[in-house]
Amino acid sequence: MSEVLHQEKSMIAIEQIRSQFPILSRKVNNQSLVYFDNGATTQKPKSVLDAIQKYYSEINANIHRGVHTLSQEATDAYEHSRKTIADFINAEHAHEIIFTRGTTESINLVASCFGKKFVNAGDEILVTEMEHHSNIVPWQLMCEERGAKLKVIPVDDNGELILSELKNLLTSKTKLLALTHVSNTLGTVNDVKEISSLAHKNGTAVLVDGAQAIAHTEVDVQDLDCDFYCFSGHKMYGPTGIGILYGKEKFLNEFPPYQSGGGMIKEVSFEQTTFTTLPYKFEAGTPNIEGGIVLGAAVEWMKNIGMKNISAHENELLQYAIQQLKTIDGIRIIGEAKHHASAVSFLIGNIHPYDVGVILDKLGIAVRTGHHCNQPLMKHFNIPGTVRASFAVYNTMEEVDKLIAGVKQAKKMLS
Ligand code: ALA
Repeated sequence: MSEVLHQEKSMIAIEQIRSQFPILSRKVNNQSLVYFDNGATTQKPKSVLDAIQKYYSEINANIHRGVHTLSQEATDAYEHSRKTIADFINAEHAHEIIFTRGTTESINLVASCFGKKFVNAGDEILVTEMEHHSNIVPWQLMCEERGAKLKVIPVDDNGELILSELKNLLTSKTKLLALTHVSNTLGTVNDVKEISSLAHKNGTAVLVDGAQAIAHTEVDVQDLDCDFYCFSGHKMYGPTGIGILYGKEKFLNEFPPYQSGGGMIKEVSFEQTTFTTLPYKFEAGTPNIEGGIVLGAAVEWMKNIGMKNISAHENELLQYAIQQLKTIDGIRIIGEAKHHASAVSFLIGNIHPYDVGVILDKLGIAVRTGHHCNQPLMKHFNIPGTVRASFAVYNTMEEVDKLIAGVKQAKKMLS
């Protein structure tokens, strides 16, 4: 009885949530859109769309530069958003929040500055086998530049990190460990707190790619005790082209500048330039003002729904999807970690994931197919790619049923 009540309650809430997303009522190939590509980007609620409109219709001006009213209002809104984001992830200081273009730029910033300041020939950087290319390649390039070595924590066949290997891989030369909080392909949730603690005992800094976690679970950077946490606005109901680097003050203060230009200087002469304080030292040039302000609106929207509610609902969808997929003969789930969130990857026999994606699209169902920027992980599993369904709070059980029916149809057509 209570389960029914609970379901009924959550159904009402989900319908209210869905009504805030105009795009969810459109048709794709004459079918109602079923959007399961949230790992790539989420859709945007009306409050976020309204915030974009409000910014350009009411306060558009450059920030930190003007005494006039519009400039001050835009500056206040931008800085208010920084504070909202700092509170959302429980950063100790708002100036530890750097606005970037997204997760990729955040990781590149750390790789470049950390490399210049702390990495020398013979040092080591540790990543994991489940990293997105954007958490591999910047480290690879930095290692080449600094004469350092990139080492890898392997995954097992369930898609979990083999943590017993971590103890051997962490050496006196390991300067930084970069890992994802939630795997974009496997959905594996890594125990960042435990791993950070092991790394710190070794004197190793920790960077977390939070792109696939931030919209799905509560994130408390002080509790995780990571040194850097990176995420993108567009995967958390906000706009593209804006993201966050959270970095502990002690590191950011020691870093050299990343990009130079207006806004990041204290004094410039032809002989010498001195640099300003955090966070502006890392925000050269006119930033994405609209993106920064609107990301604050996206965070407010998520806070209003409640991260615990978002996690609980998505977890129900995920568990139901996995259970239903497993009833289909020939389905192989890629990634069966004990702690699993936000996405499920699968294959149907030897059918190419791309072909499954095309048939699902004809049915109005958007999934992602391919290697998901995880080529080393695909090599581990010896597969060309997967079909990935990734969830958001506006998805429903009924949509999961449509996905399952679509997968059955694709199997029939392609076998
Ligand atoms: N990194 C994004 C994904 O996994 C694009 O879909």
